[in-house]
Amino acid sequence: MPAIVVVGGQWGDEGKGRIVDLLAEKAKIVARYSAGNNAGHTIINELGEFKLHLVPAGIFYPDKICVIGNGVVVDAAELLREIEDLEGRGVSVRGRLFLSDRAHVIMPWHRLIDELDEKLRGEGAIGTTGRGVGPAFVDKVGRAGVRVADVVDREALLSLLSFLVPYKNAVLERLYETDPVDLKTVAAEYHDYGARLAPYVADTSGLVHKALEAGDMVLLEGAQGSLLDLDTGTYEYVTSSVPSSLAAGAAIGMGIGPMQIEKVLGVYKAYNTRVGNGPMPTELFDETGRMLREGGPRPEYGSTTGRPRRCGWFDAVAARYSARTNGISSAALTRLDVLDQMPAIKVCTAYRVHGQITDTMPAASAAMAAAEPVYEELPGWHKPTAGVRRFEELPPEAQSYVRYIQDVLGAPICLVSVGPEREQAISLGRII
Ligand code: GDP
Ligand code: IMO
Ligand code: MG
Repeated sequence: MPAIVVVGGQWGDEGKGRIVDLLAEKAKIVARYSAGNNAGHTIINELGEFKLHLVPAGIFYPDKICVIGNGVVVDAAELLREIEDLEGRGVSVRGRLFLSDRAHVIMPWHRLIDELDEKLRGEGAIGTTGRGVGPAFVDKVGRAGVRVADVVDREALLSLLSFLVPYKNAVLERLYETDPVDLKTVAAEYHDYGARLAPYVADTSGLVHKALEAGDMVLLEGAQGSLLDLDTGTYEYVTSSVPSSLAAGAAIGMGIGPMQIEKVLGVYKAYNTRVGNGPMPTELFDETGRMLREGGPRPEYGSTTGRPRRCGWFDAVAARYSARTNGISSAALTRLDVLDQMPAIKVCTAYRVHGQITDTMPAASAAMAAAEPVYEELPGWHKPTAGVRRFEELPPEAQSYVRYIQDVLGAPICLVSVGPEREQAISLGRII
């Protein structure tokens, strides 16, 4: 059995956690391969509602192994909190949650710099989640990072911090004109995290490799959405993950080869949302936008920061583009039920940029910011879909909408989600 990647096709929060939770039943390993606790993946099951930021969504099946791969940046305190919360709610993770010894660790100066950089940018602020994820990736690329392997080794940690803390303090004091951090305090805090995380630390690349060799399925859980990707997204309003959360990043972030990935499942919401700043051509500021945000179960508020999500119609230009940058082999469409209330549904088929019509995403920030949507209008269905479990039982207009999106993506939609709960899904053939 192969490795299968699940990626977000828009600006994040497409329902990846919910889809991975559904598909995990068939997997042996479920793994996160990039990003950090800027991600917030919601899962609702018989134990209640969970918002996972670092632990993979397969954790609710007691027989699954969950892996946090080398491509993830880890906030140690947050991971320990998440483990404690899961254990406290009856989900045992010991012996089946593994953390890569090569994953980078978010340090106190990363969270500080995240906040200070946003202030310095002023009007050009990215609207980050403020978790220190971007600065941690900057230091990873800048060869000034701290890895899990360092944190679990007292001597190595002290030696590394003896070099890094004065270096980072020079930056904090001279560039940001802020207070330095204290070497002893940081060393003690991170040594404690290291001791508590040690039982989970493993060579996760080896673990995943072995499972693939044995023919087991490995589900690779993407974070964020493709339009937030550093290389192909709406730069500079993107996230900083290296490797990328795109499907191609999964091989690097897991420490496996690209040929071991057999399928790429793109997750798309039936409309568009975005949190943070940056262009979003279909954003609505009217009553329809409010209906998309507030209508249906689980209103659109960030799972990590609680910020209201910007809402708008499905952007086919962006979706076609992200289907291409990921090379999706199939797709899942989520939150279709939220459109139940709409008298008519619009899809953005092209952008008008300074009077010119284009059906591709412009690279230039100014052009992207100026892009106005050109819409096609489709009929609504005005019937509840939350209880539907078979495609033929969806209202004909809803079936047409799903087929329309499928044509846009150029890949079969194999799953339609009509509610946040595990069973609120319609299968349209073989998923994985
Ligand atoms: P992720 O980051 O991609 O995992 O997505 P989030 O969990 O941040 O946001 C998705 C939100 O939509 C969560 O509140 C889910 O519970 C909810 N959700 C997922 N699928 C559906 C669906 O089909 N219908 C509705 N109404 N809510 C859904
Ligand atoms: P999931 O996995 C939605 C956004 C932030 C901001 C930008 C940069 O839940 O889909 P960062 O803190 O990463 O430096 O912020 O990226 N962002 C997300 N938006 N869902 C996410 O993850 C996101 N992770 C980052 O809002 O605009
Ligand atoms: Mg989310």
